[in-house]
This record gives sequence, structure tokens and C-alpha cells, in this order.
Amino acid sequence: MIKYFICFSLILLPLVYNVEGLKIEPSPWKPIKNVTLGYYLEIGRFAINEHNKHTMDILAFENNVQGKEQYDNGLRYALIIATRNSDHIAHNYEAVVFERHVNQERVLESFNEISI
Ligand SMILES: *[C@@H]1O[C@H](CO)[C@@H](O)[C@H](O)[C@H]1NC(C)=O
Repeated sequence: MIKYFICFSLILLPLVYNVEGLKIEPSPWKPIKNVTLGYYLEIGRFAINEHNKHTMDILAFENNVQGKEQYDNGLRYALIIATRNSDHIAHNYEAVVFERHVNQERVLESFNEISI
């Protein structure tokens, strides 16, 4: 997985700036084939922990339902995450997480409930 991202970065980094040094647009969103891979579960758990930290909510991570990713001087993930609240009621959220470097500096950019 790490190797894959290193290769990915080496290919894409030179493409991020054109010859005039102007920043180019983020890549189109690409569906994530398997959102239950450990790497994506970690990002889903990060989003839930981060949300809990900054609110009164006590959400428990259940699973990733689906997701997409894009390159934007780092990687941005939009995951639909199944959770349960403290009353064990199921709620799904869409969390957007940005990671400038692989496994570092994750930021929860948005977190919104979606109807199941
Ligand atoms: C997705 O990844 C998980 C964890 O590695 C694995 O158990 C599962 O079989 C995979 N699913 C598909 C459809 O490849």
C-alpha cells in the first residue's frame, strides 16, 4: 500500500505545477474499489474520532460503506461511514479527509449526516 502511494506521488508530483508554476486543478474524484481495506478503515476511524473530539457526539465507527478519492497536492478522501450513536441508533455520515502526506497531517474537512 505504502509503495503504491510512493509511486503514485512520484508520477503525479511533477504534474501538479505546469511550466509557469501555476497550480493546476484537483484531479477528478475516483471511486475507491474496496473501502474496507485497512488503510481506508483507518481514515474512517480518524474521521469519527476527530468529529467526537470536537462535538458532544459519541459516535462509534461501524464500517465504511463507500468512498471516492482525488489528488490535490495530497490526497482527499470522501467516505460514507456507518456509525452508531450512544443510543445504538445507526447513522451514516459523509466525511471528507485530506492527507497532505501519506499517513501524516490528516485533516477532517467536512462531516455531514446523510440519510441511509
Ligand atoms: C476488501 O478488503 C478486505 C480487507 O482486506 C477483504 O477482506 C475483502 O475480501 C476485500 N473485498 C473485495 C471485494 O476485494
